[in-house]
Amino acid sequence: MYLGLDLGTSSVKALLIDGDQRILGSASAPLTVERPHPGWSEQAPDSWISATRAAVAELAKTHSGELAKVRGIGLSGHMHGATTIDKDGKVIRPCILWNDTRSYHEAAELDADPQFRRLTGNIVFPGFTAPKLKWMAANEPEAFARVAKVLLPKDYLRLWLSGEAISEMSDSAGTSWLDVGKRAWDDGLLAATGLNRSHMPALVEGTERAGALRPEVASELGLPAGIPIAGGAGDNAASACGMGTVGDNHAFASLGTSGVLFAANNRYLPNPDSAVHAFCHALPGTWHQMGVILSATDSLNWLSRVTSASPAVLTSELGDDLKAPGSVLFLPYLSGERTPHNDAAIRGCFAGLGHESDRQALTRAVVEGVAFAFRDSLAALAQAGTTLSRVTAIGGGSKSGYWIEALATVLGLPVDIPEGGDFGAAFGAARLGLIAAENADPFSVCTAPATEKTIHPNRDLAAAFDEAYQRYRALYPAIKGAMS
Ligand code: XUL
Repeated sequence: MYLGLDLGTSSVKALLIDGDQRILGSASAPLTVERPHPGWSEQAPDSWISATRAAVAELAKTHSGELAKVRGIGLSGHMHGATTIDKDGKVIRPCILWNDTRSYHEAAELDADPQFRRLTGNIVFPGFTAPKLKWMAANEPEAFARVAKVLLPKDYLRLWLSGEAISEMSDSAGTSWLDVGKRAWDDGLLAATGLNRSHMPALVEGTERAGALRPEVASELGLPAGIPIAGGAGDNAASACGMGTVGDNHAFASLGTSGVLFAANNRYLPNPDSAVHAFCHALPGTWHQMGVILSATDSLNWLSRVTSASPAVLTSELGDDLKAPGSVLFLPYLSGERTPHNDAAIRGCFAGLGHESDRQALTRAVVEGVAFAFRDSLAALAQAGTTLSRVTAIGGGSKSGYWIEALATVLGLPVDIPEGGDFGAAFGAARLGLIAAENADPFSVCTAPATEKTIHPNRDLAAAFDEAYQRYRALYPAIKGAMS
């Protein structure tokens, strides 16, 4: 048995697989995000531990016997969060999350220093870790002075599980401190934010062993003491391991809180000018690119809050058959946007509202707007040298057939839906746990699930969606001036 622990933005998930990679069970426990000021997004690291305890306890209700036979654990987590720890291992302040844009001035300053794009292969986005520490140095100098280690969220869980400060390449590539081509911390990048190697965890590949389960935690969770914990991966690379998105020409579109168009690469292919992320993959010697949309299903969650109707009710009101895009347009920039704009100040908007615009028209605009944002990422990947011929859809939004047909039509690509199962980040993490525990060949373990069905672009509506996409493209420059 192997356990995957995925620290998501809205929940921690624990998932158990056997040696044949069959999913035996899973359980989740919710997390909340605090937004004390506009553009801020924080979580208390202790809530990750409580939620992990709760998720494993829930799983233990039905699978305690199997948990006692777990041979390896894999970790996955939301990326880029700055978890700051003092010399006694205490958390200094709430973790500043991936979708927090407060440090946009600091990000722009670091980005203007040519070594950052050259060595990290990426724009220094405000959501990345380094500008957050620079923000702390300027705004919370006493807290900054106490920083002994900076850990990514899942690596803080590892510290609790194993007592060791260790990270791995895929998550670390999103800090702006890693030389992504060399897969090593860079002293110059660290120095530019007032830090050095002593502030960083040790580095391993996602498939390697990175700590062993402490006896106290093992007995509390009902797991064997001393079992290895794999390096694991950032949530996107972990999902890719779960989906078998591990070699050239494999790609997925994740309709989760954030939207991600992810392409696996056998080589390092940076192209910061297109606002594409180029990161290390979790498997040794491989990399990946991705376009990132900060608010994907989170845009629908927002509409759900303001209309007091659940996201499932909102999408079910659209019916099953894709309709031509309506006159209402939506820009999903509720937390600013990464790909393609790198604009932390921009905010979302509806345009084209009329007296006839009802709740359904707004939902359609949100669904279409997120699909258009994926097309922007597809174009950005093409500029970065990756042309996709099909994608696999994952994430909560992929349960809406309407959304997937809109996505296929907007992208002009077939979208594969994997056969029933849970091939997300927790499954990928469990696979990494298996690889590390058994020293297994990563490529034989990380295979793709069977395809249940393929949703093809709707040819009759392709021209109408194309025209609406052009209007969507024109909207960002039109509203940009009004936001800054
Ligand atoms: C990727 C990113 C998000 C988070 C949250 O760069 O910021 O996808 O990992 O899931």
